[in-house]
Amino acid sequence: MPTTHAQDCDVLIQHGLDLDEGTPETWTALAADVLRGLTATHKHLPPKWFYDAYGSDLFDQICEQPEYYPTRAEAALLADQGAAIAAAFPAREFVELGSGSSTKTPLLLAPLLATGQLERYVPVDVSASAIAIAERSLGAAFPQLEIERRILDFTTQLPLLGRADEGGRLVALLGSTIGNLEPVEVQAFLTALRGQVGPGDAILLGTDLVKGEADLVAAYNDAAGITAEFNKNVLRVINRELDADFVVDAFEHESIWNADLERIETRLRAKGAQQARINALSLDVSFTDGEPIFTEISRKFRRETVAELYASAGFELTDWFEGDGVYGLGLARPV
Ligand code: SAH
Ligand code: AVI
Repeated sequence: MPTTHAQDCDVLIQHGLDLDEGTPETWTALAADVLRGLTATHKHLPPKWFYDAYGSDLFDQICEQPEYYPTRAEAALLADQGAAIAAAFPAREFVELGSGSSTKTPLLLAPLLATGQLERYVPVDVSASAIAIAERSLGAAFPQLEIERRILDFTTQLPLLGRADEGGRLVALLGSTIGNLEPVEVQAFLTALRGQVGPGDAILLGTDLVKGEADLVAAYNDAAGITAEFNKNVLRVINRELDADFVVDAFEHESIWNADLERIETRLRAKGAQQARINALSLDVSFTDGEPIFTEISRKFRRETVAELYASAGFELTDWFEGDGVYGLGLARPV
């Protein structure tokens, strides 16, 4: 009988695999980010720490909310243009960064396999639980495909992927996950990526496009409260991994549209003055009433900004696929 995402996650948690397979490097990176972020004047935490098993499950639930259109928009575009993408670059190896549970990936794997060139799919994510679910479903759907999972942080550990000297490697970052990186982080990421690919390789970025404020704000404030729960999950991760005592419900979810910077800004606001103890860091953190912790940005893009991003890191945007002005997929080659 097929298992549910939650059951899969329970199994992983029992085996201590809920946070990056429990590697000491991951724990140290979390501790460093929390120390830096919560002792800063404007408190902040990187969004990658949302995604333990529970957070990954919450993200999958967000994708099913009526307000959260990006997943459906990207899926529709992949369904429509997957064959054209495969024709433009019939990859031998498909590396998907931030693959999560790879729910949309079959829409690209199927046309890539149909070219007769694809040998290997490499899902890359910090969330071991999400990848375990992806491996199970894709293994059943595409038994002929070699799947080589990599649990790593694509912002700091990209060189661990190793260079593909034969060419034919397609590296994708879908879901508009690039929008969760600050401009300086995007630059560093794309530059590192440029170092990992050769002349016969290609990059595919999924980017949510700038649109009306109402749709954007609704997507990050769903009526069922799943995004709020997802946002607060970073505090649960810190409580568990760093032996802290944040009262999760003493913080309020907030996502607003910043029109100047063309990005959604997500925060957790302290409901009342309070303190939290983080035992693993021997740190007490104080909050004033209403004080925010910046937890995520979700930048929105235009075709020109995607072309500029690529160009700034030594890539050329060669093919642009767009669905109804809502979502774009940009294929690029190294120059
Ligand atoms: N690509 C999927 C999932 C998007 S959610 C989709 O489009 O639906 C973002 C995914 O990126 C999560 O699975 C999260 O664990 C992963 N992620 C975020 N930051 C990461 C990082 N720095 N390194 C590796 N994976 C990361
Ligand atoms: C993964 N990432 C692109 C999502 C986004 O839209 O920024 C994460 C998310 N945060 C809140 N809802 C979804």
